[in-house]
Amino acid sequence: MDQTIYQIEVKGLWKVFGSRPERALQSENANKSRDEIQDEFGLVVGLRDLSFRVPRGQTFVVMGLSGSGKSTLARCLIRLIEATRGEIRFDGENILDHSQEDLRQFRRDKIAMVFQNYALLPHRRVLDNVAYGLEVQGMDKDSRYKAAGEAIETVGLKGWEYYYPSEMSGGMQQRVGLARALAVDPDVLIMDEPFSGLDPLIRREMQDELVMLQSELQKTIVFITHDLDEALKLGDRIAIMRDGVIVQEGTPEEIVTRPETDYVSEFVQDVSRAKVIRAGSIMADPDVVIHEGQDARAALAAMRENNAEAAYVVGDGDILKGVLTQALITGLENDKITVLEAARTEGLATTSPGTFIENIIPLAAETEHFIAVVDEEGRFLGEIDRRALLAGMVD
Ligand SMILES: Nc1ncnc2c1ncn2[C@@H]1O[C@H](COP(=O)(O)OP(=O)(O)OP(=O)(O)O)[C@@H](O)[C@H]1O
Ligand SMILES: [Mg+2]
Repeated sequence: MDQTIYQIEVKGLWKVFGSRPERALQSENANKSRDEIQDEFGLVVGLRDLSFRVPRGQTFVVMGLSGSGKSTLARCLIRLIEATRGEIRFDGENILDHSQEDLRQFRRDKIAMVFQNYALLPHRRVLDNVAYGLEVQGMDKDSRYKAAGEAIETVGLKGWEYYYPSEMSGGMQQRVGLARALAVDPDVLIMDEPFSGLDPLIRREMQDELVMLQSELQKTIVFITHDLDEALKLGDRIAIMRDGVIVQEGTPEEIVTRPETDYVSEFVQDVSRAKVIRAGSIMADPDVVIHEGQDARAALAAMRENNAEAAYVVGDGDILKGVLTQALITGLENDKITVLEAARTEGLATTSPGTFIENIIPLAAETEHFIAVVDEEGRFLGEIDRRALLAGMVD
């Protein structure tokens, strides 16, 4: 059995709007469509048997068109509305079992929500808006202003502490909303279309900033959007919703390259693969890798045998040291020089496994060799040749 405790774990979640909602859940109605249930019982199925899990520190994007149930899900997750059936676990605890007091504490300490319309308090200055959640927690004035000031700086609004929301642009107000959520230092952020009201340029800017922030903060985020590009950019995983059901869930790459239904295919048909496919999934094991301690003659023989014009040189623990060509060794063969001394580091193109193809292409244009994929410690993981790069983009 899987023992991992996920930060969020949702199982068999239903939300049916209307009186006596259980009627929609009876087994004889299991195969009825949402419309049929609405016609027959006057009930609206908002969420239908949803299950998903979010590991700590990841961004889970819920994407779907208007009316697919995204906000209903967000509201159920913090019990702004009550689910009809199912489990919603945070760190293993089912919040549907929480007492009012537990629930208050959960909302106050563990979770923060960011809405599309910012929901700022108009008569409070930015600083007091951001400090609001901390005030609710009962934190003293000095401490909450200090924490609020830091959150304001985090979202790039330093200097705006004493302005009123009405004196700021939509994008800035959205940052205030984000700062307010961050100020309480929640484990989990639920963001319901937070950037939808923004101009495309500002929106992209906010997305980039969220990506940067998240790489530092590593919050667990449920991010709701109806924009596919936004979903692909932000999500570690994406759930596509339609009529209250998750029709597919997976990494951005899986969603784009392996759509499971016609609906998802249509959604993703115009997405550039170069934007979602990462180095790690197109890299290959090279035929020859030379260890720094290897004898130059043996290295040359191995390269010739494999018809490899060039080969990477690695040290202990597979740390990438450089690249060697047959020509380089041939010239030095008799000079008692080690392969490490012969290896070149200039012109060595490297990338990380998480880099998108789109961002590798410029590298490929600059190097005559393959592109080496290395991890954060500099360990060699694999290589990408130009052909793999092109193939990754089209097939
Ligand atoms: N309080 C309610 N009573 C009855 N039906 C509701 C209620 N709230 C939501 N619904 C219905 O549930 C469905 C999902 O609504 P929801 O607001 O979750 O959609 P959404 O995906 O957030 O859409 P949008 O992108 O427009 O925000 C809709 O059909 C809506 O009419
Ligand atoms: Mg909504």
